[in-house]
Amino acid sequence: MPAGQGLPRSGQAGWMGLLAMRGLIAGNWKMNGLRGPGLELAGAVAAGAKGSAREVLLCPPFPLLALVAERLAGTGIGVGGQDCHAKVSGAHTGDVSAAMLRDVGAGYVILGHSERRADHGESDAVVRAKVEAAVVAGLSPIVCVGETLAEREGGRAVPVVERQLDGSIPETAIGAGLVIAYEPVWAIGTGKVADLEDIEGMHGMIRGWLRQRFGGMGEGVRILYGGSVKAGNAKAILAVPEVNGALVGGASLVAEEFLAIVGG
Ligand code: PGA
Repeated sequence: MPAGQGLPRSGQAGWMGLLAMRGLIAGNWKMNGLRGPGLELAGAVAAGAKGSAREVLLCPPFPLLALVAERLAGTGIGVGGQDCHAKVSGAHTGDVSAAMLRDVGAGYVILGHSERRADHGESDAVVRAKVEAAVVAGLSPIVCVGETLAEREGGRAVPVVERQLDGSIPETAIGAGLVIAYEPVWAIGTGKVADLEDIEGMHGMIRGWLRQRFGGMGEGVRILYGGSVKAGNAKAILAVPEVNGALVGGASLVAEEFLAIVGG
């Protein structure tokens, strides 16, 4: 059958979009994990996620990245960084470049996480420069957006997220396997999850933004939900229209819990 025949969208962008739309479950370990337990966790995830229909990605802290990448080599599970600097190299004490992440086996990097935006004052412009650097280094950026509780209660959730999208995502990201993670700040690590209708509404808005910005290519960008995703709520969240996977923090630190999300 010729490529694209019988598919709802025609043209290369639509076809590529459909090919790229394999669900993605990414574990964000944040600042957790020493070598022993970290490698054990990675090994358990690799064993349990074998043959998964969804793409699985682990984002350990920097010191474990190379080790986890080696441990996962050949398993089909990817590794990603949790941040990178916008510059290629130089006098930036404590920072890590996108090329360094790529060099030790990362395929992705999380950028603009709300903890980075809050703890390190990262503006949309800073995030955008980091995304550009990631693309140049050959990494797929996972760009995080999301409103605070005050912004949601003030009825400003949508314009806030739109502003973050406008400011954080450069044109170059679309050809680099861009992923967007919608993470309401008030849902991260709190056990609170956004209503399914609110998730659907925001993901629909993000898809519309992607279409407007990138045309047909915008269809192939995966939009992850993040914020207190657990084994018990993952199935319902992952079934919401335009939710193409999850960015998982706390629950990614326990193999059985994370694997239940991967398989849910
Ligand atoms: P959480 O974190 O699952 O612990 O809420 C998600 C994230 O911050 O990526």
